[in-house]
Amino acid sequence: MEGRIEEHPILQFKRKKKIKFYFEDREVEAFEGETVAAALHAAGIRVLRHTPNLGRPTGLFCAIGKCSSCLMEIDGIPNVRSCMTKVKEGMRVRRQKGKGDVL
Ligand code: FES
Repeated sequence: MEGRIEEHPILQFKRKKKIKFYFEDREVEAFEGETVAAALHAAGIRVLRHTPNLGRPTGLFCAIGKCSSCLMEIDGIPNVRSCMTKVKEGMRVRRQKGKGDVL
C-alpha cells in the first residue's frame, strides 16, 4: 500500500485489520478505522468529485468535515463527506459529479 507514512521519527502507527472496498469497480485496500478519503489518498486517488457548475475536479481540502470538497457517493448515497466516513468492508464508493442525485 503506497501513499502511507510507514515510519515517523516520533509517531507510531498501529494499523488495524486490512479490508477491501470498491472505488468505481476498482478494488482498494484499506485498514479498519481509516476514512474513505484517507484510504483513497493512500491508493493514489486524488480526485474525489467534480464541482456542479464548472465540473472542476476537487479532492481533500480541510479533511475535518468543514468544507464540501470531498463529497462522494457512498453505498448509493450522494453528498457524503468521505473525509469523515470510516471505510467498511465491501463499501461501494463513486466519484460524484455535480450536486448528486436528490433522494
Ligand atoms: S475535505 Fe473538507 S469536508 Fe472533507
